[in-house]
Amino acid sequence: MATGQDRYPKLFSPIQVGNRELANRLIMAPLYTGYATMDGRLSPYLVEHYKCMGASGLAMVVVESVAVTAADMGSLRTIRAHDDEHVEDLAQIAKAVKEGGALACCQLNHPGRFALLSGPVGPSPVEVSGMVPRELPEEEIQELVQAYAASARRVKEAGFDMVELHGGTGYLLASFVSPRTNQRTDAYGGSLEGRLRFPLEVLAATQEAVGKDFPVGYRFLVNEWLPGGFEPPEDQPVAQALEKGGVAYLSIMGGTYESFFLPEVIERVSQDGHMSDQAARVKQAVSIPVMTAGRITGPGLAENILAEHQADLIGLARMVLADPDWVRKAQEGKEGEILECRVGCDVCVTQVMSGQGVVCAAWPKERRSEVKEKLEA
Ligand SMILES: Cc1cc2nc3c(=O)[nH]c(=O)nc-3n(C[C@H](O)[C@H](O)[C@H](O)COP(=O)(O)O)c2cc1C
Repeated sequence: MATGQDRYPKLFSPIQVGNRELANRLIMAPLYTGYATMDGRLSPYLVEHYKCMGASGLAMVVVESVAVTAADMGSLRTIRAHDDEHVEDLAQIAKAVKEGGALACCQLNHPGRFALLSGPVGPSPVEVSGMVPRELPEEEIQELVQAYAASARRVKEAGFDMVELHGGTGYLLASFVSPRTNQRTDAYGGSLEGRLRFPLEVLAATQEAVGKDFPVGYRFLVNEWLPGGFEPPEDQPVAQALEKGGVAYLSIMGGTYESFFLPEVIERVSQDGHMSDQAARVKQAVSIPVMTAGRITGPGLAENILAEHQADLIGLARMVLADPDWVRKAQEGKEGEILECRVGCDVCVTQVMSGQGVVCAAWPKERRSEVKEKLEA
């Protein structure tokens, strides 16, 4: 019988990321679930979810954005790494993922201009959703550098295999790189070099905290899709600077909360594999592995992206939420049976934006009710 390797030789071939070997090219891209409790602790279903993902045949699971400070979060149901008391929770998540055979990576984040609970902060007071973020003074920037580093140290202690810095979605790291949201005139703004200073300091401090043997990846916002925002051709020099700084891989994404809901962006992201061309630009500029995610609906498309050298790693977020058997079905030649994440359906996004745990409209009705019951228990 033909195996996944026969059908999709590139997709099911191993790859080295930093000093870790990934069994195939399929990664769970981070997907905030809202399954943590209101004080950012484990819920039984949060652990069950990551167990399921870790056992799904994916080579690595990147655990959803985890908070690096106590106060600044996008949502109360955010998992936390800002204090040693959270190491045990993180360890249970890492164990849940690894038990099933996948490597475990943890994404670290500060939401910056979208820290709506404690009040938005950012490089400059550039209005967002009717609010003006507080401009971070240099002293606080230094504290934040240390907050990322200390959180990464906890991620390592908890037994994860890698850590990822969240430089996407317009959150804190991305807001410094953007010429639209960073209008500083000090060393942390101005030229591209200045705008990159904060992310590179975070990267260096993180590497120092975790040591050379622990890979640090970076979620990279290549295009804000907003007038005056970060966009190519600056993507390539930034990718090169991050590679030079020592990141183990770059995970490409586009858009921020200020552009996600624009009609032209909705249209753009409804296309299958819509970030592959932008990943390809980055891949041309660096030699570390590049990941692309964005409606990679089946293994045929994923194999083509790899064959055309657009990316080295395939990120699946809603795709594996919709169908945790995506990888197995691909391996068994049953790709026609993969449950579809329907274009235009925004049930998952609506759920998390209203502060509830994520559910998926593609799930059979019984599964949806079962998960809702577990979340309410
Ligand atoms: C509900 C939801 C939550 C997400 N949470 C995160 C997150 O925590 N960190 C992140 O970098 N990206 C996050 N993303 C973006 C995904 O990682 C991914 O880039 C995007 O959904 C496209 O991939 P897909 O089409 O396979 O879903 C999220 C997306 C959705 C829909």
